[in-house]
Amino acid sequence: FLVSELRSRLLDWYATSGRSLPWRETRDPYRIWISEIMLQQTQVKTVIPYFDRWIQQFPSVQSLADAELQTVLKAWEGLGYYARARNLHRAAKQIAETGFPTDLDSIQALPGIGRTTAGGILSAAFDQPISILDGNVKRVLARLIALDKVPNKALTQLWAISDQLIDPENGRDFNQALMDLGATVCTPKNPACLVCPWRSHCKAYNLGVQSELPMSETR
Ligand code: ADE
Repeated sequence: FLVSELRSRLLDWYATSGRSLPWRETRDPYRIWISEIMLQQTQVKTVIPYFDRWIQQFPSVQSLADAELQTVLKAWEGLGYYARARNLHRAAKQIAETGFPTDLDSIQALPGIGRTTAGGILSAAFDQPISILDGNVKRVLARLIALDKVPNKALTQLWAISDQLIDPENGRDFNQALMDLGATVCTPKNPACLVCPWRSHCKAYNLGVQSELPMSETR
């Protein structure tokens, strides 16, 4: 498909309709890392107040590395999946020694950072064109190509599309835009196709099957 057309349509849409979120006002890799870990298993609207408090309490990697684990776990209270907080603390101690990693392999070597979180951080903090594939992005791409499989059974294919689409000149905005498209337009139920910048290129929309896709594990 027309990669350059998809990129420019998405970026234009993002410029007018993207969300303004606290972690988008910074390029500090520390802050962006914290936000991406919080967002792994917690909704945006829940994360926002936790993120703001966290940055007040632990404004830098060093302050997090120096904190007691109990203090860190207390600040996490209410977010759940406490392994995330333990991993943040362990990783902060490593980053305090080595500096913040700036390539995919070294960032993924840190506890709690998988491929999508790594791409989210490297693109947002350093504007690197590193793709992502979280739940929202899987749904958007599955609809774009009218994927006839459960997304988790087509991961190689979906990663290849995410890699192909990402704008090499605008990795940061492209990924943020793709996440916003999934969260606000290409929603699981009742997607707002009439305002979607990708509507005319979307195979699911053109077949009228956007509400039936992506296929789920259970149906
Ligand atoms: N989910 C994961 N990362 C995100 C981000 N940077 N913005 C919005 N939602 C997200």
